[in-house]
Amino acid sequence: MHEGNLCTNAYPCRSNNLCYHSFMPNRMLKMPSPFPSFVAFASQAAETCDYRLPPEEQALLAPRATPKRVREFTLGRAAAHLALQRLLAVEPGPFLQGERGEPLWPTGVVGAISHSHDLAVAAVARQTDCAGLGLDLQGPTTVDLRRIAHKICLPAELEWSEAYPGSTADTLKLIFSAKESVFKALSGERWSFHDLLLQPGTESHTLTGRLQRALPPHFPTDTEMTIGWRTEGTYLLTYLVLPLR
Ligand SMILES: CC(C)(COP(=O)(O)OP(=O)(O)OC[C@H]1O[C@@H](n2cnc3c(N)ncnc32)[C@H](O)[C@@H]1OP(=O)(O)O)[C@@H](O)C(=O)NCCC(=O)NCCS
Repeated sequence: MHEGNLCTNAYPCRSNNLCYHSFMPNRMLKMPSPFPSFVAFASQAAETCDYRLPPEEQALLAPRATPKRVREFTLGRAAAHLALQRLLAVEPGPFLQGERGEPLWPTGVVGAISHSHDLAVAAVARQTDCAGLGLDLQGPTTVDLRRIAHKICLPAELEWSEAYPGSTADTLKLIFSAKESVFKALSGERWSFHDLLLQPGTESHTLTGRLQRALPPHFPTDTEMTIGWRTEGTYLLTYLVLPLR
């Protein structure tokens, strides 16, 4: 899908610069579900996605949205449609967004979307099975979070991140992503990065989160949650299921 450095993909990664598709094999752009079976999960890669936004979803994009934003939004909606089809076994209609940018799921459904570069993931479940879902995908990036680590992390997190396996930059990315996942699972409640304390989990590839203040009406101070993570190729995925309360 590329000629030389020029991307000719339906969702070009960059119009006149180095093409991601040229160094990222397709197999890396597939993300298996990390969730239990009651959660429907889907991923969509730009290389293979042929989803076309219906007018209602197209209208959610700013008129001057960049090609990158159009591509990621489209992939996110494509993944969400596929996940909903899997959950409900019917073709879902277009779905819109709430005041804070959150996707408006059909009644009785909870879910989350994340996209990065050429990949998007979405997860949905019935409200009778869980209270919420969180997801965050971090793609290949050179952004080093160390300069803003104190904004993302509480002092205790900075401490354990130094000793955690892997580079500090990768651990900070993991902490950042896990907090974004929790933010989405809590349906975009107003809170800050310092309202959640993360610690390495007891099981491999998990973190344990504890709310540092109450988020009324459903989440008292000290509410605990488990956030999972996995890597696939150059992507990091964090995720969580909020149990029924
Ligand atoms: C909203 C936010 C979580 C999106 O994360 P991101 O890393 O920029 O982008 P992602 O690809 O992972 O997710 C984007 C998707 O999240 C969803 N989303 C946006 N706002 C949301 C919200 N308030 N609640 C839940 N989901 C939301 C949307 O589906 C969006 O994709 P779309 O606009 O194409 O439909 C993030 O930008 C943000 O604003 N966070 C608020 C800061 C904050 O308080 N973070 C947590 C503190 S601990």
